Amino acid sequence: FSWEANWYPVMPVSYADPVRPNGFTLLGKHLVLWKSADGWACVEDACPHRLAPLSTGRVTEEGTLMCRFHGWRFDGAGNCVEVPNADAGAAASLCGAPETCATSYPVQEVSGLLWVWPEAGLEGLGRSLLEEPAALGSGAQDWVMTVPPVSYESMVENSMDPSHAPHLHEGTFAASDMVPLTDYSAPAEPLGDEGFTVAHGGYTTKNDGMKATRTFRSPSFVDVNYELPSGKQQNFQLFFVPSTPFETRVITGLGLPQLPAWLPKRELLADLLHAFFFSRSALWRFNDQDRLVMQGQDRNQAADPDRRQAAWDVATPSDTGVSTFRKWLAEVGGGGPFASSGAAASLPTTQEEVSRWNVHGKHCPSCKRALALLE
Ligand code: FES
Ligand SMILES: [Fe+2]
Repeated sequence: FSWEANWYPVMPVSYADPVRPNGFTLLGKHLVLWKSADGWACVEDACPHRLAPLSTGRVTEEGTLMCRFHGWRFDGAGNCVEVPNADAGAAASLCGAPETCATSYPVQEVSGLLWVWPEAGLEGLGRSLLEEPAALGSGAQDWVMTVPPVSYESMVENSMDPSHAPHLHEGTFAASDMVPLTDYSAPAEPLGDEGFTVAHGGYTTKNDGMKATRTFRSPSFVDVNYELPSGKQQNFQLFFVPSTPFETRVITGLGLPQLPAWLPKRELLADLLHAFFFSRSALWRFNDQDRLVMQGQDRNQAADPDRRQAAWDVATPSDTGVSTFRKWLAEVGGGGPFASSGAAASLPTTQEEVSRWNVHGKHCPSCKRALALLE
């Protein structure tokens, strides 16, 4: 299994600025997306001239990405198309040379998300053409992204661990709602590259008697399906994209209320509603409850990376999803997305841990517009 040889959704298309470079980090690589003349393009966030970050550059009218430092320009394939400080003859030979090319990565737009294949070169391009992005079951389109300072491992484990809900998510559930989760079945082994599906029953009085499945489709997709005793179906789609060892891009299809199309100033109202919803609602309390626990787990694990959690030694049936994911990471996933990269990892500061602006607002077009309006 190769972490690099995969398509990752790095942001909803609605979050990407079409007239500016969009910097982001994927598997520890600093990359930049922009809308070129040939559509969305992705290159390393480093100018081949003197390594200035191209994410601070400009997108020109021709759809090229211009470096802010000395004005070199690049097309969607990463080829240098202009060196302003060279005379015409020198520029022509410079622009054809491999040393002046920005390192480019395959990118495509599918289901309202921008997908990047973080493997450069012809080999990466060749492999990317043979794979499809994770198929989306019922396909929610109004994606919301948060980028919490939490490890990918803690994030995916959390999504495989429904039994924490009645204890942790006070306000949404109550501990007295708890129903012991005793029927949680593991998949057949050995686990394959593509991931696995686990199945379980209810875990609170609100969903007792349901049939649920959780599918981890490597490397980033978790698809949760509930069939409640009433026959009602629920589906949650979550993407967990490893950014750095302590940062994950989380993209979900949990829809916000849609305003009717006839409403005057609809976009403005939608932005204000979104900002209000995201700053006050129970959704954030729910998110914060998870985030505080996961950051604590990350801190404790980072202090002693070899420490085993009791979950692997004295697992209850409710730990099946988590222990299956751990097994997949160890046996298939080479220990995790950053296990062999040696990427320098620093735990988030307290400020980063609590800031909703860092986690969501600064990425979100709606929040940014609403903030500009209020200022
Ligand atoms: S560093 Fe980019 S043009 Fe000089
Ligand atoms: Fe937002």
